[in-house]
Amino acid sequence: MNLMENMEKNMQTFQQYLQSQNQIAPELRDTVNSVVSACLKISANVRLGALAGVLGEAGTGNVQGEAQKKLDVIANQILIDELKQNPNVAGLASEEEDDFVACNAQGEYLVLFDPLDGSSNIDVNISIGTIFSILKKDSGSLNTEHFLQKGSQQVAAGYVLYGVQTVLVLTLKNGVNVFTLDDKGVFIQTHTNPQIPEKTAEFAINASNQRHWETPVQQYIGELLAGETGARGKNYNMRWVASMVAEVHRILMRGGVFLYPKDQRDPSKAGKLRLMYEANPLGLVVEQAGGKITNARKNMLEIQPTGLHQRVAVVLGSAEEVERVRELHG
Ligand code: AHG
Ligand code: MN
Ligand code: MN
Ligand code: MN
Repeated sequence: MNLMENMEKNMQTFQQYLQSQNQIAPELRDTVNSVVSACLKISANVRLGALAGVLGEAGTGNVQGEAQKKLDVIANQILIDELKQNPNVAGLASEEEDDFVACNAQGEYLVLFDPLDGSSNIDVNISIGTIFSILKKDSGSLNTEHFLQKGSQQVAAGYVLYGVQTVLVLTLKNGVNVFTLDDKGVFIQTHTNPQIPEKTAEFAINASNQRHWETPVQQYIGELLAGETGARGKNYNMRWVASMVAEVHRILMRGGVFLYPKDQRDPSKAGKLRLMYEANPLGLVVEQAGGKITNARKNMLEIQPTGLHQRVAVVLGSAEEVERVRELHG
């Protein structure tokens, strides 16, 4: 028996974990399972990269006004194909689709996803991921309103990070669990209930946008950059991966604060990131791990959505820092 087999023999597989979660409906467990199956297929494509011919531009655009990469389109289609086959899925919504997609009329669940987060990193072999959110569908024939539920109403959420290791991070609203993909293609539980420390000395922001930030964000980053002789009395370090899913995973593992603030260049836009596909699902994971998420003013998970592709400012991570940003916004 090799070292890995030895370690794994005492560890639970994702399937064993999911079966044990009988506080949630079997239909929800089955829906989660379909999302994870799709992610395993996406992972296989991601791993092969140029060998599978999946790198580069698709030559098309999406509803967000972004140029799509081949993998954005492939990952989106893999998720749609998988979810349509599941009778428990009533409908889905995706960053890459103009409108929601109806699946099975009898289904009770809605799945929302960012099929491939961190598109700019695909071709340069830096971590990317799939982010998902699951909602319970209200009665009636499917329409957009069914999807416009607050983040606090999510029944499950998580992500798969295709990184140095491929990890599945899932919350069923009873804490967070992390599973690592082994060499046989099986997710094995490797962290139970990671906690985001309240304090941190690490921040993440795209500083190339500094001249466009509003005053409170300028003030906040100024405080951090001032170091130990400044108002915060300590030196901070900085990281920016440009894949939100990877930044959240780093924060889940060792704390930190992540900001993608509102940009003054386009006052009609509330921010870059999407409430339904990015902020809410990652926000539920962060909250379930003891961290916080806001739009700089209020709790992200209490925002009433007004559109499937709604954008928001995002501040998330270690509680003390998220609170400080909120304080500076008055
Ligand atoms: P996506 O690839 O799904 O469109 O999302 C990219 C997002 C997010 O993952 C990341 O934090 C941010 O865009 C990076 O933006 P910059 O290119 O401005 O750094
Ligand atoms: Mn995109
Ligand atoms: Mn994204
Ligand atoms: Mn995306």
